[in-house]
Amino acid sequence: MIRVLEQERTFHLITARTSMILHAMPSGHLISLYWGSRVEDDAFSCIAKDLKRASYLSGTDGIKNFRLEQYPVLYPSWGNPDLRKPAFQFSYEDGSQMTDLRFFGYREYQGKKKLEGLPSVLNEEAQCLELILRDSISGVEVTLTYGVLESYDAITQSVNVTNGNQVAMQIERLMSGCFSFLEDQYDAITLNGAWARECHENRQRIRQGSFCVESLRGASGHGQNPFLALAEPGTEEDKGNVWAMNLIYSGSFEACVEVDMHQNTRFMMGIQSFGFSWRLEKGESFVSPEVVMIHSGQGLGAMSGSFHRLYRECLLRGTDAGRTGRKSPILINNWEATYFNFDKRKLLELADEAVKLGMECFVLDDGWFGKRNSDESSLGDWTENRKKLGGSLSELAEEIRSRGLLFGLWFEPEMVSPDSDLYRSHPEWAIQVQGRPMQLARNQLVLDVSCKEVQDYIIESVDRILKEVPVSYVKWDMNRNITEWNSCFLQKDRQKELGHRYILGLYRILEELTGRHKDVLFEGCAGGGGRFDPGMLYYMPQIWTSDDTDAVERLDIQLGTSYVYPSVAMGCHVSACPNHMIGRITPLSTRGLVAMQGNLGYELDLTSLGEEEKQEIHRQTDLYKQIREIIWNGKLYRLKKEGNERAFLYISEDGSKGVVSFVQILAKPNTVPKRLKLNGLKPDALYRVERVGETDSMVVHGSFLMNLGLDLKRPQGDFHGEQWLLYREENFSTCHTGE
Ligand code: DGJ
Repeated sequence: MIRVLEQERTFHLITARTSMILHAMPSGHLISLYWGSRVEDDAFSCIAKDLKRASYLSGTDGIKNFRLEQYPVLYPSWGNPDLRKPAFQFSYEDGSQMTDLRFFGYREYQGKKKLEGLPSVLNEEAQCLELILRDSISGVEVTLTYGVLESYDAITQSVNVTNGNQVAMQIERLMSGCFSFLEDQYDAITLNGAWARECHENRQRIRQGSFCVESLRGASGHGQNPFLALAEPGTEEDKGNVWAMNLIYSGSFEACVEVDMHQNTRFMMGIQSFGFSWRLEKGESFVSPEVVMIHSGQGLGAMSGSFHRLYRECLLRGTDAGRTGRKSPILINNWEATYFNFDKRKLLELADEAVKLGMECFVLDDGWFGKRNSDESSLGDWTENRKKLGGSLSELAEEIRSRGLLFGLWFEPEMVSPDSDLYRSHPEWAIQVQGRPMQLARNQLVLDVSCKEVQDYIIESVDRILKEVPVSYVKWDMNRNITEWNSCFLQKDRQKELGHRYILGLYRILEELTGRHKDVLFEGCAGGGGRFDPGMLYYMPQIWTSDDTDAVERLDIQLGTSYVYPSVAMGCHVSACPNHMIGRITPLSTRGLVAMQGNLGYELDLTSLGEEEKQEIHRQTDLYKQIREIIWNGKLYRLKKEGNERAFLYISEDGSKGVVSFVQILAKPNTVPKRLKLNGLKPDALYRVERVGETDSMVVHGSFLMNLGLDLKRPQGDFHGEQWLLYREENFSTCHTGE
């Protein structure tokens, strides 16, 4: 809901549990008055009047004691006379760099509009507010668009710039979201890591100065996720205030927090400004990506809950959770089973075992095209290698399907190998600075996806295969970042547009292909989680969370990822031991338990397993089929997330079922296992609790499970896992009236 107080020029954006209050001051400057737990009052403009004056700040508009720099400016410019880091920066043909935005008007409407060429949250019930700002001297108009998604406790923001009457102007910086607080006591929570150890939670106190997470890689990257939250110190899973932003964008980004001289905090997120500049001719507009802003007054668990529900219902397309009727199948992927070394016989043997063990989709990974038997050639040549496949790809797919499995296929369409027919015929299609050496990463170059001809080539090559071959699942990989920032197709004064144009080109390709092949489930991948962001999730409702398949490392990768992204979006596989990446040996049951926290799959040589291992895998696929709806659509409680233990509870949407998973990482001698307390249950409802793998069950109240908890076994070794299923016993429920 949006309440507008015309006279006060105040805008109250209200969700079920939160309020955001924005205000246009008499000077026309927009300020942010409040964002937090829901308040019923609207008349907040008194806060602006009550702000006390600070010294050594420039005056504003000649008004006595009015110093803009001490105000929580909503969408600040640089100078004019606020000298903190601005939300945007434009430069004009005469070399000037000043823009003075003042409130011009507003518009309200229902239903979120699609952002042109960009992914965004979609919801017809959302209330939208456009705040229009103008600079009277340059004629530039900036519109801040807010979407209020009441039942999700989410607010979105994007920014539109229109060049009204300048011959041309440059956008040098344009944040999608900006909010200022009149406090400075916050912890910054970010998701950091590297290839194979993505999305580890990182929490640190912010102090006067700037704190940033960002990417300059042309992709959101393995190192830092486009997510940043500010939490009051002491905020935990189920208590405390937290304010989060997540950018729906897959390219270079920045997220910054600045604590100024007077203990105010400015929080911004948008496209990375370094290396970015966009030329806007007269009459043209530019639209920023959308940022999702979520406040929770009940801790990090509720913050994640809002993100998960919002993304499942308003962002992800093509999954069951996205309400289109599609289910993510249990996969067998041949990558860690064979790498490049396979033939038809081996693939069919794997498929035969996979069916017996309850798997549902066979994914043929890298190495099926051109002459690719290593990572040294053929990217770009998307023609099947009939010799290696012992026939056509269609024949192979049909044979797999005749066994009762769906068929999935790997592509890496944004890349080209120097040793490829594509590169030989179109060397200019690779991103490069002519006359300088081209750096290789994994022996490959990046195609210039900013160029329409390249986009069309990618669309047509993938489309041709998807039309010819019965493919139900596509794994879309991307294994290197851009290093030579230059395009053979852009004019020299537009080279800094390359990064954003690449992403717009990629989104056009994905819009086209996912639109033409609505029945295909696309999985995103960028060397694992190198582009795990809501932009990719809009087109590809699941992403390969990490190339790391070691169950212990995965615990924290998946835990961090779960801060923002729902489990239905995470690809999680069981692989062989010793783990190929770090040599760790973990029990198969624990590997299964960890991979069940997302979309379960397997990538190991099933033909070399012993009988006991096969039985265990069969048990896992049976169990997962029973619980996956709860994992995909349920509410997540991170019960233990530090030290030697991890525990997760999912409760189904209607509260009637639950799945508890616990891992003790290292065994400790002479210690007594404690009990595992649950959360989120109805205290006075009865639950039947079944320990997975045992026939006995017990029936106890929710209050028992939450206050005394479940009995943990004594681990018999490292990496010990346990699981339980919960069923609410409707007939025995002793609900109080009024509940
Ligand atoms: C990187 C991916 O993340 C892996 O799963 C695998 O598909 C390889 N690429 C194949 O080259």
